[in-house]
Amino acid sequence: MDEINIMQQTITEKAKQKFVELYGNIPIVVRSPGRINIIGEHTDYNEGFVLPAAIDKAAYFAISLRDDDDIHLMALDLNETFSVSINDLKPVGDINWPNYILGAVAQFKKKGISLKGFNAVLTSDVPIGAGLSSSAAVECATVFALNELLHANFEKLEMVKMAQKAEHEYAGVMCGIMDQFASMMGKKDHVIKLDCRSLEYTYVPFKLEGIKILLLDTNVKHSLASSEYNTRRKECNQAVMWIKEHEPKVNSLRDVTEVMLNKYVLPKDKLIDMRSRFVVQEINRLEAGCEDLRKDDIKALGKKMFETHDGLSNMYGVSCKELDYLVDFVRDNDAVIGARMMGGGFGGCVINLVKETEINKLIEVIKPAYEHEMKLPLTYYIASIENGTEII
Ligand code: GLA
Repeated sequence: MDEINIMQQTITEKAKQKFVELYGNIPIVVRSPGRINIIGEHTDYNEGFVLPAAIDKAAYFAISLRDDDDIHLMALDLNETFSVSINDLKPVGDINWPNYILGAVAQFKKKGISLKGFNAVLTSDVPIGAGLSSSAAVECATVFALNELLHANFEKLEMVKMAQKAEHEYAGVMCGIMDQFASMMGKKDHVIKLDCRSLEYTYVPFKLEGIKILLLDTNVKHSLASSEYNTRRKECNQAVMWIKEHEPKVNSLRDVTEVMLNKYVLPKDKLIDMRSRFVVQEINRLEAGCEDLRKDDIKALGKKMFETHDGLSNMYGVSCKELDYLVDFVRDNDAVIGARMMGGGFGGCVINLVKETEINKLIEVIKPAYEHEMKLPLTYYIASIENGTEII
């Protein structure tokens, strides 16, 4: 068994043990991973492309049905419990974590599936607020587990959409589909090139000789993230509406060119022009980045990752000084092929493609420098690309 399997088994056993201790019977355990994204940020809700993958860090959801209508939840890592009846489902105000689960349960109800109460224990090693989609992992685990236990027979793609709705309705973030898609559909050693308009996708091999994915976590929690995220969506929609007045076939930024922005958006609002211009450029950048991958030109892909970061920081306005610091630190380092902030923004991780032999050396210099300058700890993970949601 390799290291990752051993880790998964250890966590699964821990969740099971707690479950037996609390509820007295044996659960099924569903594992659903966090995700990375190589390139294609803030493009999913604009009907563009993304290039994510599921990783070795995951949520583990131990669950069995009850005979009554009660839901009993325990978050093992927080040592917190929460109970509610299936007849009284609504978002919880004061704590977050039950919402990802309850939001998923609510989707079954909305689809007319007859619900049952259940007991569950949740544990996760996806760092929270790190931009690795810890919430999508929980939503996907819950949907997958209930689909199994309630014999609901939903296809994976339908489950992805249900998990996304859970986030919209119970966490209040109008996220795109990338995170839930990557968590559910991930495939070992592959990234997913996903067309967020048609939802067609292909798996692209991503095992780079001598190069590892290093995640550097700023440990900045994104307090602004959800409100600013929803604002960005509105800014993008506004640009589309202005263009649509002249070009009725345009339905999203996917259909927009920079020429259209010059004509119909720039004269109206500089800020909205800059936001949407980033998205238009990013959709094109991803296409070009996939071509780099096909040609095995990892250097060219890495250069585009830096460009993505600069666009997210200077045009889209979703970076922060800590993320910029980390990216600037590695910009001229030959060991780092590419680096950029990842996910919604305002904190979380920088994803770096780094020569394997140089990782330790890099950590040795970047960690103390960051901690000294930013007065925050720097944590790091070497991510491997793993399968999506599954029962273990
Ligand atoms: C968050 C959202 C995703 C996506 C990214 C930005 O992770 O949940 O849908 O929009 O931000 O690319």
